[in-house]
Amino acid sequence: MYPRLTIDLAKLRHNVRTMKQKLDQHGITLVPVTKVFLGLPEMVKIYYEEGIEMIADSRIENLERTALPLKKLLVRLPMLSQIERVVTSSDAALVSEIATIRRIDQTAQRLDKDYEMILMIDLGDLREGVLVTELDEFLSQLPDLKRARFSGIGTNLTCYGGVLPTEENLTELVACHKKLEDRLGYAVPIISGGNTSSLYLLDQGDIPPEINMLRIGEAIVLSRESAMGNTLPGMYTDVFTLEAELIEVKQKPSLPWGEIGRDAFGEVPNHEDRGLMLRGILAVGKQDVNYGYLEAPPGVELMGASSDHTIVDLKNGAYQVGDILSFQMEYGGLLQLMTSGYVEKVFR
Ligand SMILES: Cc1ncc(COP(=O)(O)O)c(C=O)c1O
Repeated sequence: MYPRLTIDLAKLRHNVRTMKQKLDQHGITLVPVTKVFLGLPEMVKIYYEEGIEMIADSRIENLERTALPLKKLLVRLPMLSQIERVVTSSDAALVSEIATIRRIDQTAQRLDKDYEMILMIDLGDLREGVLVTELDEFLSQLPDLKRARFSGIGTNLTCYGGVLPTEENLTELVACHKKLEDRLGYAVPIISGGNTSSLYLLDQGDIPPEINMLRIGEAIVLSRESAMGNTLPGMYTDVFTLEAELIEVKQKPSLPWGEIGRDAFGEVPNHEDRGLMLRGILAVGKQDVNYGYLEAPPGVELMGASSDHTIVDLKNGAYQVGDILSFQMEYGGLLQLMTSGYVEKVFR
């Protein structure tokens, strides 16, 4: 069935192994983030077999998919309305709100379960976390906890504000860790220094030695480092391939004719005149993936899309109806393709 996303498990295994070895060398625990592939058990199994002990995901539904004996970290701040499910189905969560911490502890007591929390610090990216300037005040408000415990402190960068991790801001995180331990009076073992965007610091030798955990999604699955956008050497960029079928191949003009109004998405299109061209229509559309996230094969150019159709310039190549074209993709495209129920997932 097309469109389909083929997932090469051997290449994934290689990437997990390579990334784990790299972090091991720096004394950093690799906690893979599984959300981009919805925590598919077939893939999580590879992580487990490669010696991963904890996985992370932003959705509790994804963490619930695997039955393997892995520790599970929720990396989106828990919703108050979902605390019971979160405490039941995971072992740890990122937190930044007193009300949430209190509720987690109450729920853990009721469920007779120990639960771990990682306190998030906002170092400027302006997504989740306590501001450094407000940490003292926050710590003074921490309630006494019975079954919930802080196992770590962490930060997340380059996701919303585009702020890069640096030796300076991660050193601030280390200072916050000291404050947290002083306030709690027990050892807090984890300092979680970010996501894929922190990897470049490792290569530069600029990551503070106290950082001992990274939560890595993109670098493993696409072998792409997100701070500078570089490809990581020695890893596969093509674990995933989208295959889509041509449902029309015709010589047509490049400019629409008639009076131009809005397209299916409310935009007024702006077309370039390329004269007569060989146009292809693929049976995949914006309901599955935004074509801007796709990388076309040589000799093919992506031109546009509507909900169910993607238009390509076939550059007068030898194509016919029924041919299958293959595409690599960026992170956003992978997320959409994985989430689309119309895209078959096939393991190789
Ligand atoms: C809190 C948190 N940590 C880690 C990650 C992993 O990010 P990346 O895929 O860039 O490694 C994400 C996003 O998926 C996240 O939201």
